[in-house]
Amino acid sequence: MSAIILSGKEASAALLEELKPKVQALDPKLVVVQVGEDPASASYIKQKFKCCEKVGIRSEHKHLSEETSYEDLMKVVEDLNNDDDVTGFIVQLPLPKHLTDKEPEINRAIDPKKDVDGFGAYNLGKMFLSKDFEDLPPATPSGIISLLEYYNIPVEGKHAVIVGRSNIVGKPLAVMLINRSATVTVCNSKTKNLAEITRQADILICAVGKAHFITKDMVKEGAVVIDVGVNRTDDGLKGDVDFDAIAEIASAITPVPGGVGPMTVTSLIRNCVRAKERQS
Ligand code: GUN
Repeated sequence: MSAIILSGKEASAALLEELKPKVQALDPKLVVVQVGEDPASASYIKQKFKCCEKVGIRSEHKHLSEETSYEDLMKVVEDLNNDDDVTGFIVQLPLPKHLTDKEPEINRAIDPKKDVDGFGAYNLGKMFLSKDFEDLPPATPSGIISLLEYYNIPVEGKHAVIVGRSNIVGKPLAVMLINRSATVTVCNSKTKNLAEITRQADILICAVGKAHFITKDMVKEGAVVIDVGVNRTDDGLKGDVDFDAIAEIASAITPVPGGVGPMTVTSLIRNCVRAKERQS
């Protein structure tokens, strides 16, 4: 193996240390709203609270039943918007089926000042202006940028290829990379000749949710490979990237677990601190 391992565990521990004094001074509070019992969400939320505890942020879990109506969920959002003690809150995704179509309305109802997921139109729109307006960026793209910065991996002038165009990873990450003068290609499930495009990447980011979707023949020698996938298989957690094979030719690669995951959680915490700074 020749690749450097981009440890999200190490980078996030350093970032959390930096945040600690601000947390002590500002005393922010994060609320996570969960509707239903999605097992992956339960695990993500646990990690979020563990991280809050580590850094000293107050947190609260509002766990609502699977049957919660749209109206009742909107009431919870309204109450959190109006609660001065709550710095920021997120509604954990995925929502149960009967609420999925309402996601845009729910995101729109969250006060932009408390939108620490950065999923609302106001915070997403500001990101389009420039790097200086990325006040509350979505946590996964923001965590990826921080990981690249921690390992001094330059982005300017590089060709970044993103596989996956979701609203929470692919699209906002494309904007953040453009803000840093990368040349960005965003691929999706209809992209023709995908491997031809991924092989052009200096930085390849994969967020499709399919175990080992990116194989060695799809990666250029020396590329930086960022794996956003977390796929539960019979063999345990697997990323979207065939790690063992690709680590032989990449210059740097993220592991799963321990790569992008901890950075995402840390970025959420950082957004909560930033939200409090802006509110104060
Ligand atoms: N589900 C998976 N990732 C996320 C995230 O970053 N925020 C929310 N709210 N739900 C998620």
